[in-house]
Amino acid sequence: MHFHSCRKIDQKRWNYHEIITKYNISPEDAIGLWIADSDLPLPRKIVRGIVKRAKYPYYGYQILRKDFAENLLLWHQKTKDVELSLSNFFFTPSTVFTVATIIEALTTFKDKILICTPIYEPLFHTIEVLDRKPVVVPLIVEQNQITFDFVALRAKIKAEKPRAFVVCSPLNPGGRIWTKEEMSEIVKICKENSIILIADEIHGDITLYQNQFISFLKFWEEYDNIIVASSINKTFNLAGIHNGWGIVKNPVDQAKIATILDQRHISSSPNIFAQAACISCFKYGEKYLQTSKKIYQQNLEYIINTFKEQCPELVPIIPQGTFLCCINFEKTGISHLEMMDLLIKDIKVLPQFAEDFVDSCHCFFRLNLAIKPKVMVEVCQRIIKIVNEFKKTEGEIINEK
Ligand SMILES: Cc1ncc(COP(=O)(O)O)c(C=O)c1O
Repeated sequence: MHFHSCRKIDQKRWNYHEIITKYNISPEDAIGLWIADSDLPLPRKIVRGIVKRAKYPYYGYQILRKDFAENLLLWHQKTKDVELSLSNFFFTPSTVFTVATIIEALTTFKDKILICTPIYEPLFHTIEVLDRKPVVVPLIVEQNQITFDFVALRAKIKAEKPRAFVVCSPLNPGGRIWTKEEMSEIVKICKENSIILIADEIHGDITLYQNQFISFLKFWEEYDNIIVASSINKTFNLAGIHNGWGIVKNPVDQAKIATILDQRHISSSPNIFAQAACISCFKYGEKYLQTSKKIYQQNLEYIINTFKEQCPELVPIIPQGTFLCCINFEKTGISHLEMMDLLIKDIKVLPQFAEDFVDSCHCFFRLNLAIKPKVMVEVCQRIIKIVNEFKKTEGEIINEK
């Protein structure tokens, strides 16, 4: 895989202006790890499909291409083991847009919407800006893995009677792939309480090692009030192409969603470049996906082994999916604000912290694994050096006292 170096032009994570605005540091030598996109370039075969469409000099209003529709359905059959029909889909410019559309269409102002934190913040933000009320149930960390607190969840539902539940599956941050049992329990709870289950499955294709992702779509026979928001934006790093979809079973819900999209004059098919990109990825993307997963795993193993040997107080929460790895730093005794200062100001490693995920309970920062292994080494070495130096100076100060 050949890595390019011209990303600063329009890739937010590497753009100097973005780094200065967000972190207020000089951007030279900074390593941006905060946005969940990838440094691994798409292969020529996929790019060729987009270029081929670009070379055809007509960019007027588009239709849904037959080959896009066919490959979309095949992709879901292959990766999610589900037989869908085109009428189950609606198309939007992004996954978060999809979640927002579902919320707008199927809930009303001031409705309560359940969400478990830590979670990708824009999902929480969307609930708030749509003037719905987020009802938060924190996830718990058990044996260094993130999991649901079903007792708290049931109690909260009883007290607050939420209309919908936004679940991130696999979870960002943390990379938990929910087990069939956990998913069954979620579905059961939603069904018992007539709660609309909205599952963001954008990371679903990125499974690490032998872990298997199960889509909530597999539970449609038990409960048809499950709606999935997804895209292949993470699988193939296409977020800048603006593409997403929702998958809905119930025709009444389909009609309500169609009305919201119609009010915004959103086209019923993805834009021409998004369709061209998706067709290429669906058809030729398997090798890229497998190669990129190997790189994520290689980077993850480096983190696990190096922290264990050189700074065991930094404990990775091992992801089962996603290309994101949270590092629990509770054992370092370093406070959240100190850790932010050390990483951002002192060593210019720019991850995300628990607070970026609506989480005030846990002590972690999240690293992006979709980077060159050489850069991963640099990231880990900078972190280990600064954390060990900090511990040493703290120890000296305590001894002096
Ligand atoms: C869980 C989750 N949902 C949605 C998104 C954003 O996707 P999109 O750009 O398609 O809205 C991200 C991006 O990192 C994410 O992690």
